[in-house]
Amino acid sequence: MAESQSNFSDGAAYERFMGRWSRLAGQQFLNWVDAPKGKSWLDVGCGNGAFTEEIYNHAAPSAVIGIDPSEGQLAFARTRSGTPGAKYQLSGATPLPFGDASFDVTDMALVIAFVPDPAFAVAEMARVTKPGGIVASYMWDLPGGGVPLSQMMRAMKEIGCPTLQPPNAAFSSMEPKRQLWIDAGLKSVESMVIRITVSYKDFEDFWQTNTLPLGPQAKIIQDMSTETKEKLRAQLQKSLPIAPDGRIEFEAFANAVKGNV
Ligand SMILES: C[S@@+](CC[C@H](N)C(=O)[O-])C[C@H]1O[C@@H](n2cnc3c(N)ncnc32)[C@H](O)[C@@H]1O
Repeated sequence: MAESQSNFSDGAAYERFMGRWSRLAGQQFLNWVDAPKGKSWLDVGCGNGAFTEEIYNHAAPSAVIGIDPSEGQLAFARTRSGTPGAKYQLSGATPLPFGDASFDVTDMALVIAFVPDPAFAVAEMARVTKPGGIVASYMWDLPGGGVPLSQMMRAMKEIGCPTLQPPNAAFSSMEPKRQLWIDAGLKSVESMVIRITVSYKDFEDFWQTNTLPLGPQAKIIQDMSTETKEKLRAQLQKSLPIAPDGRIEFEAFANAVKGNV
């Protein structure tokens, strides 16, 4: 299913590729969601459990279920010592395999652009959440260039290579995303922009990380000839903000929305 589109099947590699940025953004997101402690959570599209672990760090949950369509990611999540008692289950977001009003808080972290029907996904999150409970989500602003991969994607475009966006990238922009919450009948809908600094110790760290076989760009980069890869490296050397000590830093940003059932 969506796993083949999103290509996120290696939990360990994902940790280096996105997990560390997901964690920084996820911490801000959870501070903002400000859910009471001791609640039951459903983490939709939990992946390798990077964000699930942040739920434990921030919200002392009474119970957490993480679902994801990638068995490779779930296998990694199950090895995490930071999510004691979490149950990881193979499932996509639509439909959710739970009864009505099953959870206090339902979240979707960095997933909405990958689901085939975002409106159905938000309606499902609202359905499985208890009255008064929270439905919250955040996603890199893909059309706005907020994803940590944006520098790589820009350089690929500059040398004439195609780039891929997840199927529903448009729903990572703030207004379409907010509208999904409103259309799902959620109340007290609020939104905010999350900003983090993405940092690589040098060019090779950037290159090795951004060419890992993960995410929609991976296949395009893997299939490039040696000559095209060299061209891409040269373009990146020109376009990346490389500091005199070699460090590369730039901002990534994401849109967050929350509402109550
Ligand atoms: C960028 S990762 C985010 C993982 C995790 N939530 C985090 O914040 O680190 C996107 C995740 O969405 C999952 N995914 C893709 N399609 C999905 C769908 N239809 N339903 C639920 N999850 C999906 C992928 O398997 C992947 O684990």
